[in-house]
Amino acid sequence: MPHTLARLNAATADDAASMLAGLYPGAPGIAARALDERPFATLAQLKQALRRAVDGAGGEVLAALIDAGASTLPKGDTSAERDELARLAAAYRERHGHDPVLATHDARGRELDAGQAIASLARRLDHPVDIERKETLIALHRNAELRLRDAFGDRPALGEDIWDWHEQLSAHSDPGYAERGLLTVTYLTDAHRACARQIETWMRDGGFDEVGIDAVGNVVGRYRAATADAPILLTGSHYDTVRNAGKYDGRLGIFVPMACVRELSRQGRRLPFQIEVVAFAEEEGQRYPATFLGSGALTGDFQPAWLDQVDADGISMREALRRAGLRAEDIPRLRRDPARYLGFIEVHIEQGPVLYELGLPLAAVTSINGCVRYRVRIQGMASHAGTTPMGSRRDAATAAAELLLYVERRAAADAGSVGTVGMLEVPNGSINVVPGECRFSLDLRAPSDAQRDALARDVLAELAAICARRGLRQTTEQTMRASAAPSHPRWQQRWERAIAAQGLPPHCMASGAGHDAMKLHEIMPQAMLFVRGQNHGISHNPLETTTCDDIQLAVQAYGSLLDELARESGN
Ligand code: GLV
Ligand code: MN
Ligand code: MN
Repeated sequence: MPHTLARLNAATADDAASMLAGLYPGAPGIAARALDERPFATLAQLKQALRRAVDGAGGEVLAALIDAGASTLPKGDTSAERDELARLAAAYRERHGHDPVLATHDARGRELDAGQAIASLARRLDHPVDIERKETLIALHRNAELRLRDAFGDRPALGEDIWDWHEQLSAHSDPGYAERGLLTVTYLTDAHRACARQIETWMRDGGFDEVGIDAVGNVVGRYRAATADAPILLTGSHYDTVRNAGKYDGRLGIFVPMACVRELSRQGRRLPFQIEVVAFAEEEGQRYPATFLGSGALTGDFQPAWLDQVDADGISMREALRRAGLRAEDIPRLRRDPARYLGFIEVHIEQGPVLYELGLPLAAVTSINGCVRYRVRIQGMASHAGTTPMGSRRDAATAAAELLLYVERRAAADAGSVGTVGMLEVPNGSINVVPGECRFSLDLRAPSDAQRDALARDVLAELAAICARRGLRQTTEQTMRASAAPSHPRWQQRWERAIAAQGLPPHCMASGAGHDAMKLHEIMPQAMLFVRGQNHGISHNPLETTTCDDIQLAVQAYGSLLDELARESGN
């Protein structure tokens, strides 16, 4: 029979310790120490107490934990896998002084296979010893979480469904990436359209009352309230991706509310407000320079001039919409009337290491950094690489190189500013030609608009100065400007209470990444919930992932927020 928290809370100290025996092999004192914090309202709270007990333990206890926690590595199906596992394990022992401790199960809760173990060991092998020690502790906590789950019969069923939806949706990927097993879904490609249809089907199957794909490609599902004309809670995130993406960025914020609506529908429950879940068609700015096309359409900020922007193949946005069967002329009608809306909430994977390192599954977002983006073109003179003396060159690429280093220095001089050149090319360049042209992107972000603007001013001034000094011409085109978006205090507090309702500390943090919420911020109150990512929270990378257990907590927190909102609305 699985344990229950009620029994754990009521048991004698010895009985309670024996209920938790084996969670942290090699360190029986950990459970006893955590039990000092009884009673526990949730398993999430108990896990936090166990984590604190490990953090407070001395070096000897940690060494014993690591010794006893060393993983039995998967066997491997082929001799190549077996050899690689043995080689990596030996190299790991040599570098870190102990056997590797891996999570025994993956983020879905399935036993780790040899391929996953090899990838994990290869990634961790070169870690500095102190960082790897933290990673080892994180693996020990994950293994304890998996054992606790078994001991208490606690299956994260909704988290598993949502995790599986991410897997299934990732089957759709753009040509050039799909063949290599990589995920890329850019605006209005066939893969993008297939994603929209799949989300639409899931929404219909999940009990939404009205579902459709709008003129900009957003999938919109509406779950009606108990009464007609009740106000609307707007929620959602984006389903497009960066190139070679992770599976969770954006999509988690669609699937968490979808699962909540499915549960409401299964219970036949109506709330005093409608829930409108929007799977935004575009947030990543990959195919066209303009971005936030999906959420921008809802705020009335979809600019008709964007329709003439062309992609790398010369296909205009207008043409892409036409080929997708969408009517660009209907986009202005997508604008929402904020008076009908309570506000906007968005769930998103954190996309950074903060929660991973703190050992916390959820956080309320305090603010989203402001951002400005440019496309820059520097023009010099293409000339012979062998015959043009160094002093006579008008090299566009070395000017760009100077600017890149300036961006790095200037952004680092501010607290919280970041500057990135993610795309950089010498169009039609050759090995034996001095670059006559260089094109690159600039992405500048800061916690406040004033700080972002000062950064942009300095970077553009430096660009002008470098080009003047080197006798080059330059043009810059601003392709995006998004204001910093502080969360609405009342909505942020709702998230904090929803997190606390799971037995977790209501951690609050700013978002360095941009989100659809910063667009909706322009017309209604908004606040976001962050969910911990695994692998140090890496994102915009196929290694991005989160566990079913954390997704389950996000669904529960979302449900708590809905319940609170329903109570506030007098139902
Ligand atoms: C979106 O992912 C962004 O912050 O660039
Ligand atoms: Mn992203
Ligand atoms: Mn995103």
